[in-house]
Amino acid sequence: MKLKKTKITISKVKSFEKSNLPKIQSILNEIKCWYGEKVGDIDFLTQIINDEYKPFYLAKINKRIAGIIILKINEKTIRIEYIAVDRKFRNIGIGRRLLEFVKKYCVDNQYEKIYVQTRHLARCRRFYRKVGFALIRCDNKEGYSEYTWKS
Ligand SMILES: CC(C)(COP(=O)(O)OP(=O)(O)OC[C@H]1O[C@@H](n2cnc3c(N)ncnc32)[C@H](O)[C@@H]1OP(=O)(O)O)[C@@H](O)C(=O)NCCC(=O)NCCS
Repeated sequence: MKLKKTKITISKVKSFEKSNLPKIQSILNEIKCWYGEKVGDIDFLTQIINDEYKPFYLAKINKRIAGIIILKINEKTIRIEYIAVDRKFRNIGIGRRLLEFVKKYCVDNQYEKIYVQTRHLARCRRFYRKVGFALIRCDNKEGYSEYTWKS
């Protein structure tokens, strides 16, 4: 089943409603293993919300939080810092919609490019290619490789 355009809303997080926090944390907890223990902690989230260069958006379906995207805005570029979709809502087009949203944000605000760095090639390749990103670089770091994708 794919989403119809009208079913999903994407909105910026400006402050935490207590009721939203557990869901946001549980979605981010899944990517903690790659990005470190702090991801999802209240201090981490509060810091992001207070950082004007790190816009934080939620995708909702019928008011239920289904996905998260956190960006990092530089002078001319947008970096996707974190993207994650709730397991219950994967493979129905939410990740794609979040990235389409970022592409529009990029054009509307006249940034030059969007990029994202991942630690996994195989598991990310299909997703990022499908949504219009190209692999532009691979860096060997200590103990892992880092892949850079650009749109
Ligand atoms: C990666 C992730 C954000 C994708 O979100 P999603 O909402 O499930 O993705 P979509 O349904 O929008 O999929 C968009 C396209 O990518 C493909 N795709 C999505 N996840 C994929 C996967 N794990 N493997 C292969 N292809 C995948 C889909 O088939 C779809 O293609 P289609 O439109 O031609 O059918 C989500 O699976 C997730 O949160 N994973 C855990 C966190 C993570 O891995 N983050 C790093 C991203 S590399």
